[in-house]
Amino acid sequence: MIRGYFVAGTDTSVGKTEVARALLVGLARAGVKPRPLKPVETGCDPERPADALALREAAGSDAALDEVCPYRFTLPAAPLVAAQTAGTSISIEHIEALVSRGEGPIVLEAAGGLFVPITREVSSASLEQADPAERPPAQTLVTNLDLAERLGLPVVLVGKAGLGTLNHCALSAEALARRGVEVAAIVLNRVQPEDDATVATNRRLVEEMTGCTVLGPTPYVADAIARPAELLRVIISLVDTPRRRR
Ligand SMILES: Nc1ncnc2c1ncn2[C@@H]1O[C@H](COP(=O)(O)OP(=O)(O)OP(=O)(O)O)[C@@H](O)[C@H]1O
Ligand SMILES: [Mg+2]
Repeated sequence: MIRGYFVAGTDTSVGKTEVARALLVGLARAGVKPRPLKPVETGCDPERPADALALREAAGSDAALDEVCPYRFTLPAAPLVAAQTAGTSISIEHIEALVSRGEGPIVLEAAGGLFVPITREVSSASLEQADPAERPPAQTLVTNLDLAERLGLPVVLVGKAGLGTLNHCALSAEALARRGVEVAAIVLNRVQPEDDATVATNRRLVEEMTGCTVLGPTPYVADAIARPAELLRVIISLVDTPRRRR
């Protein structure tokens, strides 16, 4: 059975939520009860986090908000900074527990790009030092890339269809490859109604530069309600193929 996807972006506002919604709608239609997860949402009303609620609705899920989005912050900043400002911190173990607890494929939307920091953790090297009392344990940043690696979910990398995407896609794909994180596909998503001159050649070049499967460009769909079904047509292989393979 399909394990799910870690939906990452080359940047903020590239269409992660829209691609995640399409995946959830597709999986729900296939009858596999997908689990929506937006582990951290920043720049939101903590009572009504827009991305998490959109994912939950797309999945047709009635899970409690704390299960879908345990960390919600008003400050529009990286999770590490938003949590610090709110006087708290994010537990990666808690996110891992949410992923491993239930059944059904997870569709997880990351907060920001791959190198965005989520929290700090005591490094294992520091724990192994000869005399830990000698100095305070060193802490290292934990990023979205670390989280993707630890969860072991294949990544769907969403990039913008248009100027600038070659560099952003190539950098993100290289970071994922260095860690050995599986990339299910790169999805080039249209976030503007008018194409710039690069859209026609983006896909072929991203394929050549990254060696990844590239899907899209998705259509620009002004109607938010109709959007998941329209995007699903372009990324349907992510919903169908893995189930047949496994
Ligand atoms: N295919 C599309 N057609 C039309 N509008 C789109 C499409 N994809 C995304 N949008 C719009 O572009 C904006 C950014 O999309 P989205 O919220 O999915 O990005 P994101 O990567 O999830 O952003 P964030 O980093 O804030 O989570 C939204 O206003 C969304 O409605
Ligand atoms: Mg989003």
